[in-house]
Amino acid sequence: MSFCKWVSLISILHLLDSSLISCSSSQSSNGVSQIPQRFLNFAQRDGFVDWMVGIRRKIHEHPELGFEEIETSKLVRAELDKMGVSYKYPVAVTGVVGYVGTGQPPFVALRADMDALPIQEMVEWEHKSKIPGKMHACGHDAHTAMLLGATKLLKEHEEELKGTVVLVFQPAEEGRGGAKKVMEAGVLDNVEAIFGLHVANRWESGKVASKEGPMLAASGTFEAKIHGKGGHAALPQFSIDPILAASHVIVSLQQLVSREADPLDSQVVTVAKFKGGDAFNVIPDSVTIGGTFRAFSSESFNQLKKRIEQVITSQASVQRCNATVDFFEEGRPFFPPTVNDKELHRFFKNVTGEMLGMENYEETQPVMGAEDFAFYQEAKPGLFYFLGMEKEGHPRLEGGHSPYFRVNEGSLPYGAALQASLATRYLLEPRPLHSSPQKSYKDEL
Ligand code: NI
Repeated sequence: MSFCKWVSLISILHLLDSSLISCSSSQSSNGVSQIPQRFLNFAQRDGFVDWMVGIRRKIHEHPELGFEEIETSKLVRAELDKMGVSYKYPVAVTGVVGYVGTGQPPFVALRADMDALPIQEMVEWEHKSKIPGKMHACGHDAHTAMLLGATKLLKEHEEELKGTVVLVFQPAEEGRGGAKKVMEAGVLDNVEAIFGLHVANRWESGKVASKEGPMLAASGTFEAKIHGKGGHAALPQFSIDPILAASHVIVSLQQLVSREADPLDSQVVTVAKFKGGDAFNVIPDSVTIGGTFRAFSSESFNQLKKRIEQVITSQASVQRCNATVDFFEEGRPFFPPTVNDKELHRFFKNVTGEMLGMENYEETQPVMGAEDFAFYQEAKPGLFYFLGMEKEGHPRLEGGHSPYFRVNEGSLPYGAALQASLATRYLLEPRPLHSSPQKSYKDEL
């Protein structure tokens, strides 16, 4: 039996299923509350899972970095074409924005990121990355496959949509702020709310986690060049040693969080890059250091930024060096904090409970990681959540950005079904659903 026939048979079964539900209950809202479970049953069917897994593996074999997602974007468009889903392309260089539903308001958006990382994959398996030095080590291949899965679910149930779902296949999440470019393209101007997810190894497959309010930190990067005077390593009196100066700078930077910040206000300053010198007996001319800084409020974030610059330049001058600091605000925009809307969070918990049972929802603590989903939430009420991937009895999965990162493909149906359910249910909710935009965060960065 062809896939389409198979799907239409399922649709008939669903119609029967929902009519049975409405017969057995006087309240039509019961049918609405069955949507998530129905969608999950649909997404867990063999043909559907195999199709999503196939897409994920294809993307995994051909990872592409931010704003270079040419083949990934092509694959997404080919699948949308096959489903008969209309879309806009290009959006933000390689991005694709699809539409399912009435074409009329209200509009609700679902987002997936498509980019990979400059990491050499160390996992030996059949579908290992074929591109040396590049890898989907953060699960964005799975995110893209799940959003295509959600799109198919929505398309198959399009008659149930009371508005339009906007499907955002976004480029360049990893540090480049692709979401910012998508917002600047204006394609989400009419959207009322947006949902996004990230796979996570902290929870088991079939479980999800989120929280109201700040969930992920604001993030920035810095790089400093510390200039001294090179010379013979045996005659230090004729040189100005930038390696020693940089070492003092790094130690001083560690005091910003430990001595200057409120211990109850979580912040991070990490120097992750230290480059200088390439001989045993030569003091180099200059050293480059760089890293990241994180905070949950703009006040703390801006204070860190100011002090990082001061500490680097002042401490370098104590060591008779000159330093310049670059925060890359053009190419790598600061990420705002990821802040979940209160009402959307309540709605998310309801829909999750209907699909998985409340025992499979967990309230997460805020994490110092950052997400460019925050750019959407600056302008629109949004909800970001973690999708569990762990499998009981299996070795623990590595966290994101590890060369040993693996995805539990058994989680894909949960993500696809939950995203599709959130959008479908959102369009059926009385308006306005969300709280007023969270000004205190929105205006911060
Ligand atoms: Ni990621």
